[in-house]
Amino acid sequence: MRTRRLFPLGKAYGEAFCNRQIETQKLMGHIESGKHTFLVAPRRYGKSSLCENVFLQLNCAWSKIDFYIAVTEKDAERILLNGVTELIGKSVGSVEKLGHILKKYAQRLRPKLTVGTDPVKLELSLAEENSSPAENIAEALLILEHLLREKQQQAVLLLDEFQEIGNMPEGRGIEGAIRHVAQETQNLSIIFCGSNPHLLKAMFEDERRPLYKLCRKIVLNRIDEAHYQAHINRAAQIKWGQNLSTDVFAGIMSYTERHPYYVNYLCDELFSECALLPTSADLLNAWELLIEEEQSDLMKDFASLPNNQRKLMRYIANHDGQALYGNDVAKKADLPGNSISRALSGLIEKDYIEKIAENYRLIVPAYKSLLSEK
Ligand SMILES: Nc1ncnc2c1ncn2[C@@H]1O[C@H](COP(=O)(O)OP(=O)(O)O)[C@@H](O)[C@H]1O
Ligand SMILES: [Mg+2]
Repeated sequence: MRTRRLFPLGKAYGEAFCNRQIETQKLMGHIESGKHTFLVAPRRYGKSSLCENVFLQLNCAWSKIDFYIAVTEKDAERILLNGVTELIGKSVGSVEKLGHILKKYAQRLRPKLTVGTDPVKLELSLAEENSSPAENIAEALLILEHLLREKQQQAVLLLDEFQEIGNMPEGRGIEGAIRHVAQETQNLSIIFCGSNPHLLKAMFEDERRPLYKLCRKIVLNRIDEAHYQAHINRAAQIKWGQNLSTDVFAGIMSYTERHPYYVNYLCDELFSECALLPTSADLLNAWELLIEEEQSDLMKDFASLPNNQRKLMRYIANHDGQALYGNDVAKKADLPGNSISRALSGLIEKDYIEKIAENYRLIVPAYKSLLSEK
């Protein structure tokens, strides 16, 4: 196997997938027992990779619905109806003999069968253009669940970038509609995931919101160093017939801070550039190249932040993220003491930093190098 494929920048499958055994067992358990899951982590921590590896192992029918581009509730409705019909095709197959289910549960939607295809394809179209998206969404999910029950099939619906629903002014209606159906499902398991932990937690953990306590939660953290050690050295054995030196391995862990995307990015660079076992100098070169490639995008994002948030980012990059409320922090960061807490919340909401125990950490490790004053 070419070692490049061991460190993909897209989803990690098979040999490229490092550990995540506990999370895999948990998610499999939820799906098998028909529970819904709320999977939370910043972007590029491995949510999609985890889900797809679990689906492969379970060999179950699944579809992913991505709300990334959904701006209005009409968009959400269209995207969800497409995803639901795709999943019906994958799980139930032919709906030819299931007309009685469609008749019973399709009150607002109009089921359309495309005969001549194998299996006969079902489409769910709107009976009236201006009907309520929330109710149509609920009905589509209900139809899916009852078709699955009739066929005694299990299926999983992955709702990705689900925070976009929470962002919509009319999103609460959709949240309510999904809850209404999801609390009754037996054969359909739903995974809600997205890349803004702050917004998602507000949707699932606030008792005033419709989706409160609907799901079991799985938090995806960074991958442990011991797991990476085995994983990366397996690739080093394939490429150079020996393990990486302890210094080089420690350097990978320290530059990337075990952020899964940056570990792969750096390892891909290192493994494809070095004909011989890499030295610390090779590692530094690879990291500098990565920083150069990332610089313009990351600095553009940084430049869009308000002044106080930028100052705080720079402070965390150069010092650390502990005890950020002290007077000396305000002084060193050149911030009014009473603005630190607001700047912190702003950076958390926008996913620039995360809180680990009592410490704040920059999510993207490349910022540490980019904002360094040394
Ligand atoms: N278990 C894993 N082992 C190794 N690399 C992983 C793992 N999970 C994710 N990655 C890598 O991390 C990056 C982000 O993965 P992805 O699943 O797309 O994250 P998300 O869906 O959270 O944005 C990709 O480069 C992917 O290859
Ligand atoms: Mg993803």
